[in-house]
Amino acid sequence: MRKTTFLVPLLFFVLQFELERLQKALIIKRPPNQFVSWKETDKKKTYWIIKKHHLFNMKYALVTGGSRGIGRAICIKLASMGYPVLINFQSNKDAAEDAKDEIERAGGRAELMKFNVCSKEEVDDAINRWEEKHKDDYIEVLVNNAGIRRDNVMFMMSDEDWHSVIDTTLNGFFHLTRRLLKHMMPRKRGGRIINIASLSGVKGLPGQTNYSAAKAALIGATKALAQEVAPRNVTVNAIAPGFIETDMTKNLPEESLKKLIPIGRFGKPEEVAALVAFLASDEASYITGEVININGGLYT
Ligand code: NAI
Repeated sequence: MRKTTFLVPLLFFVLQFELERLQKALIIKRPPNQFVSWKETDKKKTYWIIKKHHLFNMKYALVTGGSRGIGRAICIKLASMGYPVLINFQSNKDAAEDAKDEIERAGGRAELMKFNVCSKEEVDDAINRWEEKHKDDYIEVLVNNAGIRRDNVMFMMSDEDWHSVIDTTLNGFFHLTRRLLKHMMPRKRGGRIINIASLSGVKGLPGQTNYSAAKAALIGATKALAQEVAPRNVTVNAIAPGFIETDMTKNLPEESLKKLIPIGRFGKPEEVAALVAFLASDEASYITGEVININGGLYT
């Protein structure tokens, strides 16, 4: 009799202690997907408890067109937040490998994912193959960054230049987003969709009717989708950069364009990446359906 009166509170104490540890582990295991200051043995033990109960999923970030320019800076930034990053590339494997190496040298994790965003088949195939290998994981952050420019005045614009720009920005967004929402929405798991639009889609720029149309459509889709999926804990936002120093702008007359920008310079890819990182963070969970300009005051 005396033995049981002693054992019951002890058992209760141990149980409470274990539950507290599990609770802490669940909080700590949210992105940045890294254990905080736990001893190695504690890490392993907690990992297996969580794995057994199917409570733990590794959350990834996927960035389309992630091998160079703004996309590359976004990959590096999200990896520094603790996200394992999927770097999408279309053809330049060396550039994608280079971005991956940089992330790994800094202690982050990255995988390459090859597909053309314009091809539904390639997108579905790549995501299906990834999901086969990552049954317990899911892609929580999607950055629709891939985009191209084919500028010309409307009366001289070729069919190819019109369709390829719209296909990359708008159909690319559609193929990826529809596919990944499937795993963000159930059980209100949540997710972050961040679309890289442009000043051109907000203001409209002459010589870019194709590009302005594609980016403006992306903004419309952002606002509509944000309302659709908000009850499922998924936020959808767009970023509208002005002139950013990348391959896309290297042939523009920078010296004369700089004079139009109140801050007096082109932006850097890392400055756009910092905004993406904020929108992907927990602190931004109440922001959705927004278009955030980042243009040095060029258009407000
Ligand atoms: P970039 O030309 O350096 O990079 C674009 C990336 O998209 C490349 O990695 C390219 O391979 C990839 N890409 C293009 N078509 C693709 C496809 N079909 N499938 C998969 N990947 C594809 O250009 P930047 O400047 O880094 O642009 C990134 C995004 O930012 C684009 O959406 C662009 O429209 C947008 N943006 C850029 C601005 C700038 O001043 N650089 C200003 C406003 C918007």
